[in-house]
Amino acid sequence: MPAAVSSRHFTLNNGTSIPAVGVGCWMGVCGEGEHVTTMVKTALDLGYRHIDTAENYGNEQSVGKALRESRVPRDELFLTTKLDQSDHGRVKEAFTTSLTKLGVDYVDLYLMHWPMAYDESGNTLQPEDSPTLVETWREMERLLSDGKAKAIGVSNFSVQTLTELLAHASVVPAVNQVELHPCLPQHELVDFCSKRGILLTAYSPVGKTKFADDPAITAIASGHGPAVTNAQVLLSWGVQRGTAVIPKTVHAERLKENLQVIFSVPFCGGPDDLEHSGQLVHLSAAEMETLDQFHGKPGMHRSVCGFHSAELGGSCFGWTYAQLGWAMAVGGIHL
Ligand SMILES: NC(=O)c1ccc[n+]([C@@H]2O[C@H](COP(=O)([O-])OP(=O)(O)OC[C@H]3O[C@@H](n4cnc5c(N)ncnc54)[C@H](OP(=O)(O)O)[C@@H]3O)[C@@H](O)[C@H]2O)c1
Repeated sequence: MPAAVSSRHFTLNNGTSIPAVGVGCWMGVCGEGEHVTTMVKTALDLGYRHIDTAENYGNEQSVGKALRESRVPRDELFLTTKLDQSDHGRVKEAFTTSLTKLGVDYVDLYLMHWPMAYDESGNTLQPEDSPTLVETWREMERLLSDGKAKAIGVSNFSVQTLTELLAHASVVPAVNQVELHPCLPQHELVDFCSKRGILLTAYSPVGKTKFADDPAITAIASGHGPAVTNAQVLLSWGVQRGTAVIPKTVHAERLKENLQVIFSVPFCGGPDDLEHSGQLVHLSAAEMETLDQFHGKPGMHRSVCGFHSAELGGSCFGWTYAQLGWAMAVGGIHL
């Protein structure tokens, strides 16, 4: 059985622990495949214990196969999957299907992937249409009763949509998983979630490498020695500011590299263990500030994700940026 090399964790508001660095399983296209199983098995061999997938990625069976073949004890793993937009009207059924596909008795975290719901024809419902995000959340809260979802949370929620949810929720989401990197730092959302005990998980944390070779990031990496990479700087920034990070890579060397970051800022219960036997990238306050302000460079404040649409004057999956509570212009460029 592969040993865990990383014991760095954040503590969620339900008292459970989540490894600060996980591996993301969005492979760029939907679908099962041996490449997914190989990536997750390699990650587990290297010491990853946090796996992020989704019904929408179409690869839960391949992820589950990797979990079984790696033979890492289930209680050492932190497994996240997500409720698809088309399943908001049948939460329990969709959750059970995910458990079956993954081949597990429980997941550590179940997220509402997006706040908007689709109807049976795949058309997006408006925020006021049933099931609303609040109705969907209430169904997710019920999943906690039999322990098959250890924690529940949301994804792609803004201050606006979280405020709407929290006004009606019995359970505060444990996690909000959103796009976070120095081009889209979402400082206000980070502050909002931190004050309410909601851990942010950063998706696209190396910005899909679209700006990773910027000279400012290279200068920080170089200052830590020749072995430190730009990706490690980006991930270290994410973890040091108190967010979990879930970079995806199919390359073993990059998987190893991405695991070698450290954090200093406690969140909730704080770090369980700052000791780590690998190479440590610990950013100074000045380096953190440079990365915090990186989005201020002309043209830099933007999403790196391809799901933004010019439809409706700027939207994602049928909701306008105003409905999502995102201060974006057409194409995902931040206002
Ligand atoms: N909740 C949501 O709506 C949502 C949306 C998007 C993503 N996510 C989650 O977040 C995860 C990560 O996001 P992402 O895949 O969009 O972006 P990302 O992790 O920022 O970037 C992935 C890309 O960066 C490359 N890469 C990773 N580590 C690298 C390194 N150390 N050096 C050089 N290149 C590196 C990968 O290439 P190779 O594979 O070729 O190495 C891949 O092309 C996803 O897999 C998914 O689990 C969630």
